[in-house]
Amino acid sequence: MKIKLVAVVLAASSAWPAIQAQVKPHPIPAIVQKDGRYALMVDGAPYLMLGAQSNNSSDWPATLPRVWPAIEYLHANTLETPIYWEQFEPKPGQFDYSAVYNILAQAREHHVHLVLLWFGTWKNGSQHYMPEWMKLDPQRFFHVTNKNGEFVDSPSPFAGASLDLDVRAFTAFMRHLKGADPQRTVIMVQVENETGTWGTLRDYAPAAEKLFQAPVPAEVLKAMHKESAAPASSWPEAFGDEADVDFHAWAVAKYVGKIAAAGKAAYPLPLYVNAALRDPFKGAPGTYESGGPTDNVLPIWKAEAPAIDVLAPDIYLLETETYLKVLDLYHRPDNPLFIPETAGTSHAARFLFSALGLQAIGYSPFGLDYTRNPPAHQGDSDSPNSFLDPTAQNYKLIGPMMREVARLNFEGKLQAVSEVEGQPTQTLHFGAWDAVVSYGVGRGGSPRGNKEPVGRALVGQLSDNQFLVAGYFSRVDFRPAGTEQQRKSQQIVAGTGQTPSALIEAKWQHRQFLRVEEGAYQDEAFKPLRILNGDQTDWGLDFSAEPRVLRVSLTTY
Ligand code: DGJ
Repeated sequence: MKIKLVAVVLAASSAWPAIQAQVKPHPIPAIVQKDGRYALMVDGAPYLMLGAQSNNSSDWPATLPRVWPAIEYLHANTLETPIYWEQFEPKPGQFDYSAVYNILAQAREHHVHLVLLWFGTWKNGSQHYMPEWMKLDPQRFFHVTNKNGEFVDSPSPFAGASLDLDVRAFTAFMRHLKGADPQRTVIMVQVENETGTWGTLRDYAPAAEKLFQAPVPAEVLKAMHKESAAPASSWPEAFGDEADVDFHAWAVAKYVGKIAAAGKAAYPLPLYVNAALRDPFKGAPGTYESGGPTDNVLPIWKAEAPAIDVLAPDIYLLETETYLKVLDLYHRPDNPLFIPETAGTSHAARFLFSALGLQAIGYSPFGLDYTRNPPAHQGDSDSPNSFLDPTAQNYKLIGPMMREVARLNFEGKLQAVSEVEGQPTQTLHFGAWDAVVSYGVGRGGSPRGNKEPVGRALVGQLSDNQFLVAGYFSRVDFRPAGTEQQRKSQQIVAGTGQTPSALIEAKWQHRQFLRVEEGAYQDEAFKPLRILNGDQTDWGLDFSAEPRVLRVSLTTY
């Protein structure tokens, strides 16, 4: 009641714009590119989004009190949470901004940024978040038609009336955000959610069929490197077995591209779409949601939806080789890597480091709040926080130094890895130095790998001979670059009994720790707390389950 009264008084006295004007100006967040690398700029500097996505039905005044304690527990710096079209436009053309107002106010109170998810025409391939008055008019806001001529539970990308209304609503939302958020609490917006269709490859309605047999647009042929297709090729002629899924991706991307362009014209925040993935090793049409930005149609999405800054994978394919392949497929010269959804399990948490190794601008496991559905099976653990702990462990380590990590990554000075089964050692190359990361290693002996592959490490080059090192369940050591090569050639020489003159002259170089400082990031600067030496460095630099950040200065003898 009190709040309402103040708002009315302020509006009447036109003091509201004056108060808004007093907010320190913050630049609009942006995604920038330099030398082939990307950064998400927030407040003028590279930012690493360490996020958590709420459950789907959590963004309500009644449920947000069960979201914030989880965000605090996690040390997340960003909450991803939906804006529901059905709530936002309860009657045609009447917009209810209360949810936007509420989430902005609460996020500021909790000192976290927001990524708002526009649950519009598509949510997981369906139209479940369309306002009720649209659901009641399926003739006008029609669904995809399958091969048998039946409607399926998915909106048609050819429903022009739905598109027009989504454009109108999304634009109203973005315009409102521009005025309501001079603080730039919101740093990105997701347009729709897991677009596409389950259960049929495309729309087979007569109007769609006609387009399917019509010439493929030139920009699609170009994007898919099919310029050599015969002039005026239809979709089946140009794309063969992939024609259905390519056609649906084109139709959906075009639809979403229009919504994104309109929203961006109102307020140019970074925009992204998320993909329900195709298995990159065995993803034949029909085995995945067709139409969304899956890896096989990324160029079509880039061509048809240029207002979308990022095509982002929701990674629930957790097998190591598959996860790493997905990261690789979405880290492209024309696409920054951003993981808006993934599993927060202890097995998967390490992949944050692999993503950082590919200059990820953000990462956000799904469903990390206390509203989650009670498990319908016997729990893995009695701890109420066990579903948060693996992500919390990552964020506790990286959170305080996220600006440094983002800066080093943007400058191409950071490398990070996670453990791969059967690979107990990984080598990172930094000019004159190699960093060797090993897993499951004791005092002596060779690394055997951890029992579960949970190891991870990051190494950032602070200057020629100084490194930032952090990780879990791993050992990191350094050696002068090329040493391994020299050793190998010497063995060959020893075997043959020959001694080439280059080797006689080669000086053996050994790594010497000049100083190993253990410390913590405070106010974005490293503060040393002690110098490690003796047993703490003689075998290498060890990282266990406790967060540990080291600044390592090296020399040789
Ligand atoms: C992916 C979707 O994008 C999310 O909204 C959610 O439904 C998760 N799947 C899992 O439940």
